Amino acid sequence: MAATKTYLTGIQTSGMPHIGNYIGAIKPALEAAGDNDTLYFLADYHSLNSVKDPDKLRHDIRSVAATWLACGLDPERTTIYRQSSIPEVFELTTVLTTVTAKGLMNRAHAYKAARDRNEAAGNADLDAGVNMGLFNYPILMAADILVMEAHVVPVGRDQAQHIEYAADIAKSFNHLYGDSYSFPIPQGSFPEGEASILPGIDGRKMSKSYDNHIPIFLPENKLKKLVRRIPTDSTPVEDPKDPDTSVPFQLLSQFADKERTAETRKRLEAGGMGWGELKNDLFEVLNATFGPMRERYDELVAPGSELDDILEAGAARARERSRATLAKVRAAVGMD
Ligand code: ADP
Ligand code: TRP
Repeated sequence: MAATKTYLTGIQTSGMPHIGNYIGAIKPALEAAGDNDTLYFLADYHSLNSVKDPDKLRHDIRSVAATWLACGLDPERTTIYRQSSIPEVFELTTVLTTVTAKGLMNRAHAYKAARDRNEAAGNADLDAGVNMGLFNYPILMAADILVMEAHVVPVGRDQAQHIEYAADIAKSFNHLYGDSYSFPIPQGSFPEGEASILPGIDGRKMSKSYDNHIPIFLPENKLKKLVRRIPTDSTPVEDPKDPDTSVPFQLLSQFADKERTAETRKRLEAGGMGWGELKNDLFEVLNATFGPMRERYDELVAPGSELDDILEAGAARARERSRATLAKVRAAVGMD
């Protein structure tokens, strides 16, 4: 019998997820959950680097958890928990800092990008605006992964370096203490191709940081308004249009069934379908996809809902594993 593999991924709690997150991360992760051993957690300490408003953080944690549950995460099958409920993550972080070269951290993409921005701005202090939370981000992430002895980490391509770092850090630990205990070496699992990168309402990649995103559970009237705001050119209704350069069409094709997508493509190419009609269709399709889940989301996100019990039960299960790992790590380093 093949040994079961543990799948683990973290989700930053910085705002309600958008429909790009849904196609690129949430939907594939829920599909992968199937019969695998899966742990999906809320990386609330990682979000502390960007979210400095306590009320916003409180709300974002609920919003992200409620989104995953409303989209179909089954808390009986997948362990869902808050990173901040697992003290062993932070204990392990301290151990891992002692086997991690500073030079490795100096080469981390996010840190290097911050230094490059300072250099480009002519700032003599290349570390200006860089806090230790940003610098240590990859070590905390390695601890998230290693404390649960995860084998596979499904993430977007932008996270590839972080997974390599987690593997490198695990190897350094194993090299020193492997006679007593070794971490499994984690592997990233990435979505294939560019097909599932959704454009935002301004045509760039949809991202919270560009503020061009469509949040999954916007109330119906706001969703309609936002979809109407997607810029389109002034091609008259009767003229042929190119679906492949049209943001509303690309979004529609991710959510509509094959027939509807093909039919819409034909009508745009033939002429006779206006952008207004296309946007109405897009709103309809999005509303049909997320409308039924929105009710569940609204219930869960409300303070005092069963969300708290679900996260607590998840944390209890996750802690059984993190405690067991820490006991082995402490014994290996000589602190038993
Ligand atoms: P954002 O750019 O909005 O801050 P994140 O970087 O937090 O999003 O990404 C969370 C997850 O969603 C990652 O797995 C990422 O690959 C995926 N994702 C983000 N934006 C998109 C997009 N436009 N299309 C598809 N997947 C996306
Ligand atoms: N850095 C990840 C992101 O921005 C979130 C994250 C934190 C994570 N810890 C993790 C992902 C552990 C996978 C495993 O998307």
